[in-house]
Amino acid sequence: MCGIVGYAGPGDCTDVLMDALSKLEYRGYDSAGIAVFEDNAITVEKAKGRLKNLEEKMEAGHRPKGHVGIGHTRWATHGEPSDINSHPHGNKRVSVVHNGIIENYIKIKRFLADKGYEFSSETDTETVAKLLDYYYNGNPGETIAKILRKIEGSYALGIIFSDFPDTIFAARKDSPLIIGVGEGENFIASDVPAILKYTRDYYLLEHNEIAVITRDSVSITDLDGEPVSKELQHAGWDEEAAEKNGYEHFMLKEIHEQPEVLKRTVLPRIMDGMPFLDECGITSDMLKSFRKIYIVACGTAMHAGLVGKYVIEKLARTEVIVDIASEFRYREPVIGDRDLVMLISQSGETADTKAVLRLAKEKRAVTISVVNVKGSSIARESDFVIYTHAGPEISVASTKAYTVQLSIMYLFAFQLALANGAITEKECRELIEELLSVPEKIEKSFDVAETCQYIGSKLINADSLLYIGRGLDYALSMEGSLKLKEISYIHSESYGAGELKHGTISLVTDGMPVIAVATQEDLLDKTISNIKEVKARGAKVILICKETTRVADDIADYQVKIPAVKDALMPMVAAVPMQMIAYYTAVLRGCDVDKPRNLAKSVTVE
Ligand code: F6R
Repeated sequence: MCGIVGYAGPGDCTDVLMDALSKLEYRGYDSAGIAVFEDNAITVEKAKGRLKNLEEKMEAGHRPKGHVGIGHTRWATHGEPSDINSHPHGNKRVSVVHNGIIENYIKIKRFLADKGYEFSSETDTETVAKLLDYYYNGNPGETIAKILRKIEGSYALGIIFSDFPDTIFAARKDSPLIIGVGEGENFIASDVPAILKYTRDYYLLEHNEIAVITRDSVSITDLDGEPVSKELQHAGWDEEAAEKNGYEHFMLKEIHEQPEVLKRTVLPRIMDGMPFLDECGITSDMLKSFRKIYIVACGTAMHAGLVGKYVIEKLARTEVIVDIASEFRYREPVIGDRDLVMLISQSGETADTKAVLRLAKEKRAVTISVVNVKGSSIARESDFVIYTHAGPEISVASTKAYTVQLSIMYLFAFQLALANGAITEKECRELIEELLSVPEKIEKSFDVAETCQYIGSKLINADSLLYIGRGLDYALSMEGSLKLKEISYIHSESYGAGELKHGTISLVTDGMPVIAVATQEDLLDKTISNIKEVKARGAKVILICKETTRVADDIADYQVKIPAVKDALMPMVAAVPMQMIAYYTAVLRGCDVDKPRNLAKSVTVE
């Protein structure tokens, strides 16, 4: 949700900022802008829309030349996408880029208006720039500390003052920000991919810290000006990992990375053929002490939690409640110190999920997070963290992060089931063996690409479609439906197959596509009956099932057969055709697959 960058070094600042912003465009693409010191004065260039609009505007007009500056790519919250609402905001003296939301901006705006300030944009960020200008006393650190005590909400800020043409200032609260440390050059960025071309070393800025960055120094203080010492972090992946590597889209690349990232996530959590979450501090004794487990997350991550619920309840016999974070946080949930609250988040920065984590801690529940981005807020604030090792997920539509989240759900369920005595050691070993076979099965499932592309060509003119399934297939079909609608813009809904006839079947008319997922042996006959019901009403049925499943040819119009593993683990393999159908449908409809409209990768506002 908005990306910010900053550069101080010998290179061409505009080039570096534009390159770094291109790595953060997944965080928002409503507008882009930069502020660069040119001949010791702040020069601002900005444009509505994608980064390329800014590039074209500068090519046709003026391209700032300098060595220090800040940049922004926007996901609009306050004020429509427009040139005027684009960041940076400020005046000749101070310029600001911001990721987050200033909740008390109206109050600040009134205060400043009384002092004679005029506002040109509808943004909350402009109030920060003007507040800095109002309180500026020649000492940027003091001024920033002063205004941080006055603003409420979430922010990562990059700031430059015309009096300090070799320096960037940065601060954060509840929005991510890193300080990249290079050789003779330093950076700020919302996320690691922005700096990987230049350095893999960085500091994590904490809440209410202020960083002062020049080309050869980084100093960090708290709001009282006391120096803070930090451990230098090192990114575990390089620039190549954040590039497309010959794939047409990041989404397709990330779908194909799934076997590899699954191995990377699962293998360190297996010891002598048994689940071993102890490496994350999670012991079997601790697991069996919980009365209830809540899994809370948003979007795709919540869908991973739903699979977790089915598997944990079935294998470990512990009650699991799954909820979306934006609902959970406001419904006064009954949680206490005997409960476990598990948060799942790729980015580790999702505002609602983070709020649930804080609520759970307030209620003294034990918190475990399943997070992909190392050092992110959710990872740092939870009692225990299980990192997924998916590497950078750039495509806005999540794919590999989902499958690795599933793998953690399984490991967790196995370890808990064993701790509860609900499965034997032998059964656990068999499950682990099966889990280890999944990457290879996913590799084989890539063979369905052509079939999925063909199916995509049949879906491109659909107005709406249904996904149906039972049990784990229902949990997975929710994810399939989300994937399709978010990138192809075709409306779709997911239903428990048995629920259709309680209302939704009235939507089924001649030619309506219905994607039926039927990978669960014990529910197969029931799902087949539901398929017959929609088929009898004219639906065009696409059936996703195991290659070992034998069904009559006329059950479905198209069949997608995938390699089989134990039923409990099928969602990981069956996710692939779901992702591919969504991908190819979107590509064939000419959609911007990696950057679907209105979305951003990391939702840091509620
Ligand atoms: C959909 C998608 C989103 C995210 C959701 C949570 O493809 O990616 O639904 O899953 O915004 O994000 P994280 O996992 O970063 O908390």
